[in-house]
Amino acid sequence: MTAPWTDRFADRMTHIRASEIRELLKLLDQPDILSFAGGIPDPALFPTERIQAVCAEVLEQTGAQALQYSVSEGLPELRRWIAARMTADGVPCDEGTIVITAGSQQALDLIGKLFLNRGDVVLAERPTYLGALGAFNAYEPAYGDLDSEVPASARLAYVVPDFANPSGRTMPRRERERLLERAEAHGLVLVEDAAYRDLRFAGTAEPSLLALDVARSGGIEAARTLYCGTFSKTLSPALRLGWVCAPQAVIDKLVLLKQGCDLHVSTINQMVAARVIAEGYDAHLERLRAHYRTRAAAMQDALARHMPLGVTWSKPQGGMFVWLTVPEGLDGAQLLEAALAEERVAFVPGAPFFATDAQATTLRLSYSLPGPADIDEGVRRLARVIAARLAYAGSNAAWAATGRA
Ligand SMILES: Cc1ncc(COP(=O)(O)O)c(C=O)c1O
Repeated sequence: MTAPWTDRFADRMTHIRASEIRELLKLLDQPDILSFAGGIPDPALFPTERIQAVCAEVLEQTGAQALQYSVSEGLPELRRWIAARMTADGVPCDEGTIVITAGSQQALDLIGKLFLNRGDVVLAERPTYLGALGAFNAYEPAYGDLDSEVPASARLAYVVPDFANPSGRTMPRRERERLLERAEAHGLVLVEDAAYRDLRFAGTAEPSLLALDVARSGGIEAARTLYCGTFSKTLSPALRLGWVCAPQAVIDKLVLLKQGCDLHVSTINQMVAARVIAEGYDAHLERLRAHYRTRAAAMQDALARHMPLGVTWSKPQGGMFVWLTVPEGLDGAQLLEAALAEERVAFVPGAPFFATDAQATTLRLSYSLPGPADIDEGVRRLARVIAARLAYAGSNAAWAATGRA
């Protein structure tokens, strides 16, 4: 007999469900599938040898410290390096405004814990990063569309301004400024998820929301933006190293929550990362950018060459994602089923990325993992699946029109 667990779970669990995408990705782990589904960094870009050498060095020179507990706010030298980096990116600050988190995912969870009461409204873009919704859901918020009127119960707005997951979109400067104005007018906390900010491979950088906020408000202590950064997309996601840069009063509370949650991020991981980034980090970023630039260009070429009329897609200036929109009447989830069965090609349907009013005619394609030849072949196959459905829908429409005449 199974225990009646469902009755015993806390009320908040009614808001927490398995991610459709994670379930889907498990199915796609087969060698004969050409996949645009995984949104993970290309492992060929991990600085494996450097991390290996630095690990040995850290253990040899400072093993007792590296394997010991450490402070909840994070390693001072790592926080100082991040503060200097934030300062160079237009946010004058020091290590007191930085807390190290277990990836930016934990930052989102701690921010939800700190700011959200049940029923508070979180404003999000359409589409938005599913993992953020997963983190916030535990605090039982309602969701609203960032572009609609701001309800009185809105507390927080969550945005990915640079090369967003899943849309690949970059928010123009004017839109960032308008968002700050609206946040000020409605007393909103802004959460800036900068997970892909370092991966710009085209165009010119926009100032971060936090940089614009600091310029408007006069300093980080007067800002309303919480900046979430991460080393997952640049060094390695397995290190689980992210950070929040925010006014000290917010950081102090996040540190308390972090203490209650897991005490601190792995000391050895922080020490290794601090040494790895101290040398050659910018050259490493340039290599990543060149790599993703090539992959992104291969995908744009393939889409232009193969996709039937009526299909549109985003042209990202960085990051890992292209957002595809197919004509009305087609459905991303059904297309995936057909693409897997008929062409052994995979992607992620767009609908789960919407907190409100899901748009079924959308697909997320990642160009991070497949090489240029596979990108071309995968897009060609996907285009074939879409074209077949369009031809079918077209012939049905023509038939219906003839019938009516
Ligand atoms: C937009 C965005 N934010 C946050 C994360 C979480 O990354 P991490 O916790 O590894 O820093 C991801 C991961 O895919 C992401 O795409």
